[in-house]
Amino acid sequence: MEIWTKEELKQIINERDEDRLYELHEQIENSQWRCSYHVQTVTGLMNDPNGFSFYQNQWHLFYQWFPFGAVHGMKHWYHVVSDDLVHWKNVGLCMKPTLNYENAGCFSGSGFVKDNFLYLVYTGHHNEPDGQVIEYQMIAAIDDTNHLTKLKRPIIMPQSGYTEHQRDPKIFYENEKYYILIGAQDAEKHGKMLLYSSEQIAAGWTFCGELKVEGYDHFGHMVECPCIEKIGDKWLLFFCPQGIEKKENAYQNAYANVYLIGDLDLETLTFKPDTDLEELDKGFDFYASQTAYQKDNRGTAILAGWFGCSDYTYPSDDEGWANLVTLPRELTIEDGKLLQRPCKQLASLKGDVLFDAENGIVKKDILLRKMPNSCVMHLENPSNSDIELDLFSTDLRKGFSISYKQRNGKLEISRKQLSNQINPSFGTERSVMLDTLRVLDVYVDHSAVELFINDGEYVMSARIFPTEEEKKIRMSGKDINLKIWNMQTSVKDDFVVFPKEEEDAAEN
Ligand code: FRU
Repeated sequence: MEIWTKEELKQIINERDEDRLYELHEQIENSQWRCSYHVQTVTGLMNDPNGFSFYQNQWHLFYQWFPFGAVHGMKHWYHVVSDDLVHWKNVGLCMKPTLNYENAGCFSGSGFVKDNFLYLVYTGHHNEPDGQVIEYQMIAAIDDTNHLTKLKRPIIMPQSGYTEHQRDPKIFYENEKYYILIGAQDAEKHGKMLLYSSEQIAAGWTFCGELKVEGYDHFGHMVECPCIEKIGDKWLLFFCPQGIEKKENAYQNAYANVYLIGDLDLETLTFKPDTDLEELDKGFDFYASQTAYQKDNRGTAILAGWFGCSDYTYPSDDEGWANLVTLPRELTIEDGKLLQRPCKQLASLKGDVLFDAENGIVKKDILLRKMPNSCVMHLENPSNSDIELDLFSTDLRKGFSISYKQRNGKLEISRKQLSNQINPSFGTERSVMLDTLRVLDVYVDHSAVELFINDGEYVMSARIFPTEEEKKIRMSGKDINLKIWNMQTSVKDDFVVFPKEEEDAAEN
């Protein structure tokens, strides 16, 4: 493991770093774990997706980025774009910490499109000379030439009565007003969400109060990355409470990303949930997700999450890179339930059929000698039978195993029998309990596996780091339809760091 000095962690990117980063990228590019249809960090470390928006007919996604290595150093924003949520292009650096308010990093935030601008509200993470942390809510905007202008001063100052943890603004518009929701910690060290409102985007913000969630006094000891989206006529409130107690089938990860469906009353600052608190993803690696939407289609929203979590390390860290964004998921609320499906456009990536069970029916064990690094599997299980599907296995080890037992309805994924163990102190298995397992779609991309269960009922995400020897697929099950397709490349792993335009700062 590389040791980083304080000074190295504080580095801010500069044009002079281009050659050095180019070399780092060259080294990373050859990794067997680089993905071909997931957005992944260009170099160094990526964490939260930020500013996810539909602007000028394109999807814009940013991510928290420390360019120089796989550690949580000084945070910048990196920018990628897509026409279809599937083919992504690296645009380059979007924002770096240039103002004193953000001298310890440009932390997470969200996007809002208005008057030909994409506004980005974010947290200026500031360190006083004695190390004291102060967090400010800041704003910037990019125009259609990708020119970024920041406002020099915060739009929201720290709120008294709360600790220094006040961050990750989510901006939204409702009842002819703008709102910002942030994650916070109160003086009793309880996780809270705070609401602000304004008539304009870039000024006039006033504190409304805490968002009261009926049935809950607080959420853990700190809430990070809150997000709220209207989907049809319901609101989806989702956020990352830290310090939630582990349960048998839930909250096994270092930190959780949870959701509630309900109604939002902005007059009384109350959210009335119709559902219990649930994790958005039941796998190992998922955090800090955000949504974006298209103005003319408010029946759905698109969700992107960090395919990782704070406090985790991965084998790719030693290669100088860490982390991906999950596949974009299309969210709908049907019969009061949240469904998360891989976005439809992904189907266009399906290439050759690699396996098609004879007459569509798998009756006994099958074996594929060469596990494709990038594929999608569609499995139908009309008689709800037991299934075992082992990916990246060897003759002796199961590899990444997916198993379903009809007897107790348990679907379990396990990383226990892979040679590269990933954060095993957080457990090697995750499971969900199902009434039946009807369909399963498994997306595999080099070091990523995402399971979509029963057409969006649950999603389980897992990073895996298979070795050259781990390359078989084994399966057992009765009367199961299974088809496997190759997936084509849609995310180019090219080196783009400095876009044409540099950022600017304007008075406010
Ligand atoms: C969540 C988080 C945010 C913060 C950002 C810093 O992973 O801790 O709360 O804004 O990451 O990179």
